[in-house]
Amino acid sequence: MRHRAQPLPHEAGLDAIRTFDVTDWGGPLSAGMRDDASNALESGKVLFFPHLSFALTDEEQAFLTPEVSNGKSKNVSLKPSGGMGGTSLAGQQAGALKAMMQRFAAAARDLVCDLIPSYTQALEAAQTSFRPVEIEGREASPIHDDTRLHVDAFPSRPMAGRRIMRVFSNINPHGKPRLWHVGEPFEAMAQRFLPQSREGSRLHAAILGLLGITKGTRTAYDSLMLGLHDGAKLDETYQRTSPQIAFPFPAGATWICYTDQVMHAALAGQFVLEQTFHLDVNAMVEPARAPLRVLESVRGHALI
Ligand code: SIN
Ligand code: FE
Repeated sequence: MRHRAQPLPHEAGLDAIRTFDVTDWGGPLSAGMRDDASNALESGKVLFFPHLSFALTDEEQAFLTPEVSNGKSKNVSLKPSGGMGGTSLAGQQAGALKAMMQRFAAAARDLVCDLIPSYTQALEAAQTSFRPVEIEGREASPIHDDTRLHVDAFPSRPMAGRRIMRVFSNINPHGKPRLWHVGEPFEAMAQRFLPQSREGSRLHAAILGLLGITKGTRTAYDSLMLGLHDGAKLDETYQRTSPQIAFPFPAGATWICYTDQVMHAALAGQFVLEQTFHLDVNAMVEPARAPLRVLESVRGHALI
């Protein structure tokens, strides 16, 4: 079968990908599919849409080159407020690139709201990115190396428990898949790395906030999530031997997951569009599945 996950030596029966036969960003979807999608997404699976492609106009095809990056950032990023960064383009060309990314942002929102209508009010659009640089061979320090399995947690962006969901679409024009590894469930990973993770001090968090090093105040939850992120990335044995599958997301495919929950690594590929959403834990169908609630139940106290 074309889209079957390729087992790695330590696959251990992982059931990490749920496939949906959706061909249209605007739906409509069946009730059965919606239930399936919210259940799979919240339980930490990747929703995979092999036949949902994001079409570019002829003019936009010209953006499929690493030259659109400014060479300093690996991604072109667009804030919901309209600020664009990371590109070498200016003027009319920059405007056209922005329009493409805004169209993707709108399509991604339509898809998520169609799949899980109860998210609609709470779903907050964060940044959109275009990733025109080949992953393979890119230099990065271990902590910044996204070819290593990790959950997303960012030192400068405290989430205070709120979810990070990402929609990806592979727009590679040469048919090159984006190769991910998807790892073990969050609970298993947390059990391994939580003992070495720290909740951090309130004073330290307040100073980081005052100095503008963090956007808002880092909570105990954020410190623990950074501990899980760093702990996994820095553990060579874990990277090599923990349960994981390799999954090549084909060109022309789309996928969605909670990247603060799904252990993921991107090993190869070029040209993807990505939309980040944030969501309050209480807007989930089952908030108990949120990393915040899982970590709180292990620690035995509130973390935000
Ligand atoms: C990541 O979130 O770690 C990278 C995902 C990608 O660019 O495919
Ligand atoms: Fe990531």
